[in-house]
Amino acid sequence: MSTAQQVPDILSPEFAADPYPAYRVMRESAPLIWHEATGSWIISRYEDVERVFKDKGGQFTTDNYDWQIEPVHGRTILQMSGREHAVRRALVAPAFRGSELQEKFLPVIERNSRELIDAFRHTGSADLVTDYATRFPVNVIADMLGLDKADHARFHRWYTAVIAFLGNLTGDPEVTAAGQRTRVEFAEYMLPIIRERRDNLGDDLLSTLCAAEVDGVRMSDEDIKAFCSLLLAAGGETTDKAIASIFANLLLHPEQFAAVKEDRGLIPLAFAETLRHTPPVHMIMRQSATEVELSGGTIPAGATVTCLIGAANRDENRYRDPDRFDIFRDDLTTTTAFSAAADHLAFALGRHFCVGALLAKAEVETGVNQLLDALPDLRLADGYDPAEQGVFTRGPQTLPVRFTPAAG
Ligand code: HEM
Repeated sequence: MSTAQQVPDILSPEFAADPYPAYRVMRESAPLIWHEATGSWIISRYEDVERVFKDKGGQFTTDNYDWQIEPVHGRTILQMSGREHAVRRALVAPAFRGSELQEKFLPVIERNSRELIDAFRHTGSADLVTDYATRFPVNVIADMLGLDKADHARFHRWYTAVIAFLGNLTGDPEVTAAGQRTRVEFAEYMLPIIRERRDNLGDDLLSTLCAAEVDGVRMSDEDIKAFCSLLLAAGGETTDKAIASIFANLLLHPEQFAAVKEDRGLIPLAFAETLRHTPPVHMIMRQSATEVELSGGTIPAGATVTCLIGAANRDENRYRDPDRFDIFRDDLTTTTAFSAAADHLAFALGRHFCVGALLAKAEVETGVNQLLDALPDLRLADGYDPAEQGVFTRGPQTLPVRFTPAAG
């Protein structure tokens, strides 16, 4: 075991500016760190993070979400385990895969993407982060739930506050207060809609949740509200960062960008490699149920474990030349990249593997295809600074682009 002093601190400005050099030092010489300020044990090697997520021996729980997220969402599937988790997850899972995704929600995804692109395609310039990525996924979730997209600004503010609360590693009181305000505001907004929807069930996901029975019991209004809050946050912020990152990666690698433009069948490869190289979520926590031996050290029972996805995905013992963005790499399995058999760790692994992975893939494929169709000569604005922002979740701050304005 090593002490935190030997490596850059995950709360330092240097780490926030560029965490990758620190991740390397951690993997090589400090793979298990007791981090006083966050009260957690930090792990960074691929084999350790994979083992914790897969949790074959039942050594880890998601009880950390009791304090990490329940104060803003209420209780959600992230915290649940066993049968309770399986049953509740099964309620939403069908909407995010297979025929329901293809037939019911793909048109919603396509329409939402088109509406956003139509607003800037005639202008010749846009910021793909503010004009597109931060709006598209949250609009899709709002539409899927049958909520009013005109409330977009509020949804965006809420999910940003929720994710900030989740990643409030320093315990900033303003972030805590904003999270608590969000819980109140979201409840005031959602509970009347849920009551109204129960009386007028439709074809949307909120109606499915209202009508669903779990073990013969209907979900309460509070349960449904918590679920919606989770969906907006889990499906908004993450996919928002993913879309910005895939474009940043491609625009910064013109040869690979040209290949994708030529063969759109390469989009899933570019997305999988983006998830490995620049994952939207850089850290996920777990709680140890027993004492655990990891990378030569011991984590006591009942401890919080911070799993560094961003570090594990760049482990040179798993991926060759890991800092290189290469959509053609042969050591990343693209066919399984959006299922729990994935080898990158961006969606976690095991029982809590991201339930929205295929929805995210559908959004990214649609988005990239439509943007390339509408803006064929899309390029970065001169002097673009590819700075990323965020420690818990991470992505490009801005993505200013230029293109020939569409005619007509
Ligand atoms: C690229 C985009 C996305 C990334 C990187 C991502 C990442 C993750 C990660 C890392 C987890 C595991 C959390 C844990 O184990 O503690 C997770 C779970 C989850 N994700 Fe995603 N996610 C994405 C898109 C989405 C979308 C579009 C939705 C749908 C609205 C969604 C809904 C969920 C839900 C509900 C869970 C909890 C699953 C469970 O506890 O069983 N995610 N996601």
